[in-house]
Amino acid sequence: MLGNDLHLDLGTGGGSRRAALITALREAVREGRLAPGTLLPPYRSLAADLGIARNTVADAYAELVAEGWLTSRQGSGTRVADRVAAPAPGPVRPAAPPPLPYDLVQGRPDPGAFPRGPWLAAARRALTDAPHEAFGTRDPHGRIELRRALVEYLARVRGVRTTPERIVVCSGAAHALRLLAGVLGTERPWAVEAYGLPFHRGLLAGAGVGTVPVAVDEDGARTGEIPPGAGAVLLTPAHQFPTGGPLHPERRAGALEWARRSGGLVVEDDYDGELRYDRRPVGALQGLDPERAVLLGSVSKSLSPALRLGWMCLPAALVDAVVAAKGEREPYASATDQLTLAAFLGSGAYDRHVRSMRRRHRERRDRLAAVLAARVPGVRVTGIAAGLHAVLELPPGTEAAALAAAARHGVATEGLASYRHPDARGPAHPDGLVVGYATPPERLYGAALDALCEALTEGLGARRSASSS
Ligand SMILES: Cc1ncc(COP(=O)(O)O)c(C=O)c1O
Repeated sequence: MLGNDLHLDLGTGGGSRRAALITALREAVREGRLAPGTLLPPYRSLAADLGIARNTVADAYAELVAEGWLTSRQGSGTRVADRVAAPAPGPVRPAAPPPLPYDLVQGRPDPGAFPRGPWLAAARRALTDAPHEAFGTRDPHGRIELRRALVEYLARVRGVRTTPERIVVCSGAAHALRLLAGVLGTERPWAVEAYGLPFHRGLLAGAGVGTVPVAVDEDGARTGEIPPGAGAVLLTPAHQFPTGGPLHPERRAGALEWARRSGGLVVEDDYDGELRYDRRPVGALQGLDPERAVLLGSVSKSLSPALRLGWMCLPAALVDAVVAAKGEREPYASATDQLTLAAFLGSGAYDRHVRSMRRRHRERRDRLAAVLAARVPGVRVTGIAAGLHAVLELPPGTEAAALAAAARHGVATEGLASYRHPDARGPAHPDGLVVGYATPPERLYGAALDALCEALTEGLGARRSASSS
């Protein structure tokens, strides 16, 4: 080991070099930078690296040996003592259970499908073309290059009507919801779909905003039942999450009528709007009334949830307040990532990636439906026209047994009941599993489906035998 590798800082003060070296070595051992048993450099080389006398190093080592920090044996050099206490451990957390081998939890694309090459090419182009100013400012509104690219893309693909000024870049839908909750305040609750993402309900609650459930059926949320006193309604019009149907056109109109009447805001979570398989995408509701609806978009389903990039298309009246809520400086979304996404969109790479993901997901979805139809006929597969997940409707009373059997067979998945709003009234959705088919790597997908079929056969069979005995 060379002296430089120890990263010792003897400072420039006037104290003795010997004392400074002793202190620096003690610190390095205490902080764990020098682990027990580590061989220290010979006197001569550390002295040369630090620009001090050889004897100073020898004295310092001898002192630390005497104190018990180091050990020295003839012929084997000086080492960090084994018995030096390790730095205090962090808080003890219960060990997480090992992940199940087949990940069919809804929500994420296959991380192995991230388009590394095209993304790198976009990053290279973006960084080459970026003005110096891009590396000097932190604009909470978002890079203008990205906002322009989004206006073009969202108009073409989602029927969104907006301008660069009305787009605010953010760090995903979650961040957008936090910002909107802050801007709209806590006085009025939000209406949310009776089946929805618990995480989103939780973050509204964390911001002090109450939520009121609106029933969901095969035509999506019953928007005629949105309470007049709600400040906003959070909807998933393209693909109700998680039950899977598109919001019926009359229900869309109903949501906007409610907004006009009550002065409330429609918040459209367009989380997987591009990923539709059997016909043209259902356009965004926002395009029907850009002054009453906010569209939330994100690359979490199309590219990766790890990028933490999203956008809000806002009514003109809300832009300043939302930008102000982000603070004076952009807190999260890196300018280089924003520029890269702009280049990725502008070159057509995003369209190509979405097309290729659509093909891949459609194939997986078809395989899931075919395997289940052949092997577990008691299960109905629904909600499969779009997105990354399907709902497997189960016979009444079987959800818990199916989930337990899935875990026994190494399949991670979730039941529909876990998405239901705790205050939801009225008839519950039939029992079901929410099965994500996009996450497993290609080589594991067949085995994951086998395990799922075995689990369902076992889970449903257990109930049949229980009810027949
Ligand atoms: C219903 C729904 N909306 C939006 C998102 C995207 O959230 P974010 O952009 O915060 O990753 C997700 C999860 O990926 C989701 O399940």
